[in-house]
Amino acid sequence: MAKATLTITDNRTGRSYEVPISYGTYAEYGATIRAEDLRQIKASEDDFGLMSYDPAGGNTAACRSAITFVDGDRGILRYRGYPIEELAEQSTYLEVAYLLLRGELPDHGQLDAWTREITLHTMVHESIKKFLDGFRYDAHPMGVMVGTVGALSTFYPEAKNIEDPACRATQIVRLIAKMPTLAAMAYRHQRGMPYVYPDNELSFTGNFLNLLWRTAEPRYEPDPILERALEVLFILHADHEQNCSANTMRCIGSSHPDPYSALSGAAAALYGPLHGGANEAVLRMLDRIESKDRVAAFVEGVKAGKERLMGFGHRVYKEYDPRARVIKTTADQVFCVTGVNPLLEIALELERVALNDEYFIERKLYPNVDFYSGIIYQAMGFPVDMFPVLFAIPRTAGWLAQWEELLLDSEQRINRPRQIYDGCDARDYVPLSERGVRSALEIRARGGECASPESSSSPGRAYG
Ligand code: SDX
Repeated sequence: MAKATLTITDNRTGRSYEVPISYGTYAEYGATIRAEDLRQIKASEDDFGLMSYDPAGGNTAACRSAITFVDGDRGILRYRGYPIEELAEQSTYLEVAYLLLRGELPDHGQLDAWTREITLHTMVHESIKKFLDGFRYDAHPMGVMVGTVGALSTFYPEAKNIEDPACRATQIVRLIAKMPTLAAMAYRHQRGMPYVYPDNELSFTGNFLNLLWRTAEPRYEPDPILERALEVLFILHADHEQNCSANTMRCIGSSHPDPYSALSGAAAALYGPLHGGANEAVLRMLDRIESKDRVAAFVEGVKAGKERLMGFGHRVYKEYDPRARVIKTTADQVFCVTGVNPLLEIALELERVALNDEYFIERKLYPNVDFYSGIIYQAMGFPVDMFPVLFAIPRTAGWLAQWEELLLDSEQRINRPRQIYDGCDARDYVPLSERGVRSALEIRARGGECASPESSSSPGRAYG
């Protein structure tokens, strides 16, 4: 069998190096060399050694993980080996959260105990209401979430004991249980409505609808179809391997703060329109298009680079996002209850036009998880600015699973990437009195190079 090594010849010195290739579960996906093995390759004795350069980490494995597997070319997504389609069809969000965190599907007793634990931790400290009062009436609920989940760290100072498995487990339960409560409080704060207390007889998603929408009735009865649709949407959004926000959770987690602070950072990363904020951006885009017959002109604008087709494209999926397919079928069930969202017609036409247009085909741009989710959320009665919050709630389980896997990985240390320095070489301080003319003259004389009397315009050295 061929040796699993890479032989590298450095043509600057003629020297050759052999570095081992290692694999993950699937040889065709996990073949890697250790970047550290490149450091031995030097042009001279005092050379720092080779590094790899990979802006945005598009071709760099930052960790080993057993949580989620994505095959972007074949549109495959599995949580701990289970296909997303089967989990969406047969599981519940809390069962999937258990699977992501513990690695196995729970048995009856484990699921009952887990569900009970989460149910009994859905309340938040009454002081959190004072945090909510501090936000403007029109505060974006995602900004409220980032703030309040970070604030929770001050109510559980013991959460800093991240080395203690029992302490981690308690914080994980608290976070999964309290995110829907914080989300509903942000929603009701915006509307000047009183906060609702949890109903422990309801399911995780049923109680979330209760927290959001109960008014004067003695007991809130969630619509079973909407309750199930939310379960499916939460399952689909629960994890997605090393995406931007999971990576943020790991990066912050690597310096060992409490999980509330780390999760606040992950939620902030998710908020961006290129990530979890895309579902909100999709609805605003569909609103701007206004009607099906304006789709063609909009698509031409996208192709001209005027803007992006939000909800399309993905760093990993170069095929249809399997989650988008499931969401599309879930939409039909929701619309039976809510009536069809008129924006659906525009979205379907956008998809039809884009999937038949060379611009999108050659760039392998397909609908992603965010393209249809917003249409369902809006039909269910959620305002557009709640959409990223509806992403953050279920992703909490994934973020926490990634966080704990990081803490238990003996190879992981505080995250500290290197850089290629290409700034100014050493130069002397220029007194204020001399800066004006001379440095401008200097800069002009050097064709815009760094202003300094002695420095040559040599490019900066690469420093590790
Ligand atoms: C999520 O990583 C995850 O797993 C994320 C996620 C999860 O579950 O955590 O799946 C959730 O964030 C889904 C993505 C939601 N974002 C959007 O829908 C925003 C719109 N999509 C993009 O901006 C974009 O597709 C990204 C951000 C999703 C991916 O960007 P990449 O991989 O950096 O791709 P790129 O920007 O390098 O684009 C490659 C080419 C470019 O064209 P050229 O410069 O080569 O001519 O494709 C073009 C881009 O201009 N392109 C798009 C486009 N996305 C990429 N053109 C138009 N519309 C788009 N949506």
